Order: sequence, then C-alpha cells, then structure tokens
Amino acid sequence: MKSYKHWHITLDADRLAWLTFDKAGSATNTLSVEVLAEFSDAIAEIAAEIPRALIIQSGKASGFIAGADIEEFLSIQTPEDAKRMIRNGWEPFNLLESLPFPTVALIDGFCMGGGLELALACRYRVAVDQPGTRMALPEVMLGIWPLMGGVMRLSRVVSPPQALDMMLTGRAIDARRAKRMGLVDEAVPPRIKVNTARMIALSPPLKRKPSLLHRLMNGPLRNFIAAQAEKQVARRAKREHYPAPYAILRAWSKFDGNPFAIPDDDTASIAHLWSTPTVETSVARNLIRVFFLQERMKSLGKTADFKAKHVHVIGAGVMGGDIAAWCASRGLSVTLQDQNAERLAPAMKRAAEMFSRRLRGSDARMRIRDATDRLIPDLTGEGARHADVIIEAIFENLEAKRALFAQLEAIAKPDAILASNTSSLKLADIGANFRDPSRLVGIHFFNPVAQMQLVEVVAGATTHADTAAKAAAFVRQIDKLPLPVKDSPGFLVNRVLGPYMQQAFRMVDEGIAPETLDRAMEQFGMPMGPIELADVVGLDICMAVGHELAPGSEPPHRLKALFDAKDLGKKTGRGFYAWKNGKPQKAQAGQVTAELTQRLIAPYLREAHAVVAEGIVADADLADAGLIFGTGFAPFRGGPLHYLATRGE
Ligand code: NAI
Repeated sequence: MKSYKHWHITLDADRLAWLTFDKAGSATNTLSVEVLAEFSDAIAEIAAEIPRALIIQSGKASGFIAGADIEEFLSIQTPEDAKRMIRNGWEPFNLLESLPFPTVALIDGFCMGGGLELALACRYRVAVDQPGTRMALPEVMLGIWPLMGGVMRLSRVVSPPQALDMMLTGRAIDARRAKRMGLVDEAVPPRIKVNTARMIALSPPLKRKPSLLHRLMNGPLRNFIAAQAEKQVARRAKREHYPAPYAILRAWSKFDGNPFAIPDDDTASIAHLWSTPTVETSVARNLIRVFFLQERMKSLGKTADFKAKHVHVIGAGVMGGDIAAWCASRGLSVTLQDQNAERLAPAMKRAAEMFSRRLRGSDARMRIRDATDRLIPDLTGEGARHADVIIEAIFENLEAKRALFAQLEAIAKPDAILASNTSSLKLADIGANFRDPSRLVGIHFFNPVAQMQLVEVVAGATTHADTAAKAAAFVRQIDKLPLPVKDSPGFLVNRVLGPYMQQAFRMVDEGIAPETLDRAMEQFGMPMGPIELADVVGLDICMAVGHELAPGSEPPHRLKALFDAKDLGKKTGRGFYAWKNGKPQKAQAGQVTAELTQRLIAPYLREAHAVVAEGIVADADLADAGLIFGTGFAPFRGGPLHYLATRGE
C-alpha cells in the first residue's frame, strides 16, 4: 500500500481495510484540497485491492472530521475555481459510495460539513455515544450549501423534512438522536466502537428500505415539501439577506443536490451565492468573514495558560445570578454571594430554569443535577477565599464596589483574578484604593447572559497584561467570546449602541412612529429594532446610559416622559409599546425610506469608526466582531466597518 501524508491504510488478517485520517501538522482533521486529493488516491487504491470491507476512522484524539478547510475558500475567485474545489470531494465521495464492498464510517466526536458528507457516502455509520459526538451540515451558516453530495444523500438516509431541518438550520445531532433518525446505524459506548464497526463490516446487516412516505417525499412530493419548508425559512430569514437556505431548497428539489447540474446564473448555484453582488461583498464571503472573526476571538482566549476551577460571584441580581448559573452550567464550581438572603432564592430558581433549558441531550438529567450541585449559595462570602476568579456584580455604586473590593483583596488567593462586571464605572476609580490595582480587570457580560456570546474584557490603566489575558482565557473557558477593550465610557458595545438609540429616540420626538423605526432596522438586518430593544433593556437603563455617554445633555422628550411615568418598558408592561405576554403590541409601520434608514444607522457607524480611531479596540476587525456578537449587527453585512469600507465610505 502506498504511503500518504494524511491518511493511513492497513489491511488486517480478516482482509478488512482500515483507512485512518490523521491530518499532518494539525490538531484537527479538516478536508483541504491536498487531503481530498490523497483521499481520492487512497480510495482508488483500496478499490483495486478489493478488501472484504472498508472502515474509515479518525486518528485524532478529538473528533472525526471538522469539515472543509475554510481558509481555502478565500482563494475562490471564479465559478471554475469553485467547481474545481467541489469536484475534489464530489468525485471521490461518489467513488466511495459505489464501492462493491461494505463501507463503514466510525464517527467518534465531531463530524461536520464535508466530514458528514464523507460519512454519508459510506454504506454504514457507527457513532460513538459520548458528549463530543455531534453531526451537522452547517454550510448554511457560511452562506453556502453542502456541495459534496450532502444535499443529495442526506434526504435518502433520513426523512426529507429532517434532512432539510438539519441543512437549513445547521443544527448538530448527537449520537442517540442520530440513531433514532436513522442517520447512523449504531450508537455505541466508546469501549465497543471498534468491535461494532468490525462486526458490521464483516457481517453487514440488511439495509431497511425507506418507507413509502419517505420515497414519496423524495419523489413526487419533493416540490411540495420544499415549498412548505420555504414558508418556514421565510419567517426566519429574508431572501435578500440570507440566500443560502433558499438555494438549498432549490438545489434539493430541482437538481437533486448536484452542483454540476445547476447553471451558473441560477440562484441555487455556488457561482451565484459566491459572487452576488461581487466576490468581495457576497453574503457568503461576509459570513465566512464572521466565522474567522469568531475564530480570532476564540484565539484571544488562548494567550494565557489559565484554567479556573472555582468562581465566586457577588451580587445575585439580574446579572450576577445568571453569570453564576452560566459558569456552573459550564462545569465550574460556583459560590454565589449576596448581602440580601431574599435575592439568592430567585437566582437559584432562575439557575434551575437555565439548566433545564440549556443542558440537553441524552444525559441531560445527570448534567442538570451536577450543575445544580456545583452552584452554592454563600451568604457569608466564604467562597471568595478559595476562588480562582471573583466577579463582582453588585449595584452600580462606586462606594459600595470600593468597600467590597477592599474586603475581597484582603481575603482572595494571591493569584485570583478580581473582576468587576460594571457597565459604566471606570475601573481606575474602582481600583483606586487597591493595594495592587494590577489585579483588577473588567469582565463585562451582556444581558441576557445565556444568550449573549460576547464578553468584554476591560483593561484599566493599571490592569496587568497577564490579568487581562487570564480573564480572556476564563471567558473562553466558559464558552463565551472574549473581546479586549480599553477602560473608556461604554467600552465598545454600549458606546456604539448609545448614540444609535438616542438617534432613534429623537426621531420618535420628531413624530416618526416607533414601528417605522423598528421596521427600518429590521429590514437593514438587525435582530430587533432600536425602540423595541430599548423597551427590552429597560428605559431606566437607557436614561442612565444616555446620561453617562453625554452628561448634561437634555434627554429625549418621549423617553423622559415614559421614564417619569415609570413606564420602563417590557419589565413594567408598558414603555414605547404596550407589552402583552412578553410581546410588544405594534401598530402598522409607516413607509421606510433609504434616507430614514441612513439617518438611523449613521450614528452607529460613526461611533464604530471612532472606537477604532481612539484605540478602544485593537483594530477594525475586532470592532466588527464585537458589534456582530454584542449587538447583533447584521452578520450578512460582515460587520459595520466592513460594511462602510465595501460601500466605499
Ligand atoms: P441588580 O440590582 O439586579 O443586582 C445587584 C445585586 O447585588 C442585588 O441582589 C443586591 O442585593 C446585591 N448587592 C448589592 N451590594 C452588595 C454587597 N455589598 N454584597 C453583596 N451583594 C450586594 O443589578 P444588575 O443589573 O445585576 O447589575 C449588577 C452589575 O452588573 C452592575 O455593575 C451593572 O452595571 C452591571 N451590568 C448590568 C447589566 C444589565 O443589563 N442589568 C449588563 C451588564 C452589566
């Protein structure tokens, strides 16, 4: 057998061929052009050998295959480039599917995108039932679709509605669910994985024929199923903003997922997705940009070798309670302190709700129980003595915070991180009386904690670089995205959101309906319009932020009137909108003009530009990253500064 750089073939005594993927020079298996070219040769070689069966497995400690090597996509300029790249996987996967002997994919750990497309070209799939095993076709999130046979094969293996759901959402499936759906033939514990794969290879079970309904849905009912799915997609994503899910449905229903059967000018073609309006500004390119921005933020958490075991949170309010629960759900031991015993009980109740919402999967009960055990209410604050990270989330009051930190600094372990979740106070002021102010850092979460991925890591003038790096590592440890920012009013996110919201309030004062303003920004691609957002955040907080960012300026009239009347938004049932069952009651929106949209978004874009110029974030890419993950700025536009640059401003 030939030797390959990334693949290893062995033929055992039973004449079983084992093809092991172990990408050279990489911790993770990804499918690059070179890897796929070798795979093609390896499959041809195995085909010629005619073994009894073939088993494909990963040689890595973690994961089967993470998907395509996305870096390589960036070199695609023309439709021909794209097709060449797709053919690299399409052809060997077809060859794999056509082999005359049983083929088995042994999936242990993640199996994403092109990895799942490869597994789908095998006759059998065995998944190892462990928490890391996840199967998904997430291409839609990058603005493209599974182009190496996934669209064609998945709907044959699982029922078409389930296949479409996976492809349209990018949702990952665990081993047991995959077994129930028929995506894998077996879901087995780690210790018997090799034996199971071997048994299946040596005595392959008969494949059950798909049901009549399944065949109908893949046949005459295909257009109907696609049309139904399209209605659901339309509720979540506009075609102009996110063309990929529409392209998936069209590629599946009209072309059986064959990218080579689609004309370049068809909306389902990769040529169209990749180059509309231009190669540099297509939604696919922008979404891939967002993917890399996210990777960059993840890597910012890797500069310090720091792992926390125990977190102590002080203040069991809106933020502290949820931060504590989140940390416990991510595997940390947490003590939660409050001066007020009555505040701890509701925080624990909210934590229980968060656990049952977020900790899912086959072992959910055990995970919920463990998370609950890890979260300990701590009235006396003893936990602060043992914690690796201490997060202060008490009232926004400088004197209270100073007094608290004086106690904390005296009892904390010498190498513990001392962090404040403050939104509006200067770290330098909080740390003014510290014996060693270099230990103080801002770890600024967003509300709601469980949903918001971004966490700003605030370095004050005296914060030691190591402390900030450790704080970023901690943020990554709890699966959030750290963004280093300087200690300046509003940091990045509130600084940019503030003037944009103020502009919206002033436009309300001019007589423009809140509904129209919200509609304008939703059409622009924001997840929520500014007025609805204000009601959700709370008009008291909007007043405070306005005051902080522009002290002394007259607050917008309508906002002030609502605030004075204690109509604070969603939490009081009335703000700019009346709220019923958690939903704003909106009237018909008026006409949205380009000029109105421009006026509304202009302050946002201006501030985004300013924070970079002032060095509050390191560069424009990180500002874009923070604003996409912290404010939901339309990801398909690639971030506000990218949007400005590609508009030529
Ligand atoms: P909150 O008012 O809901 O909770 C504060 C809690 O701290 C209360 O339970 C109170 O009993 C407790 N507390 C006050 N002094 C204490 C002390 N000395 N020792 C122990 N416990 C004490 O406040 P919230 O909204 O959770 O805000 C907390 C911090 O988080 C503030 O610094 C705020 O700026 C920041 N923040 C708030 C966000 C929000 O959306 N509410 C977003 C991001 C940051």
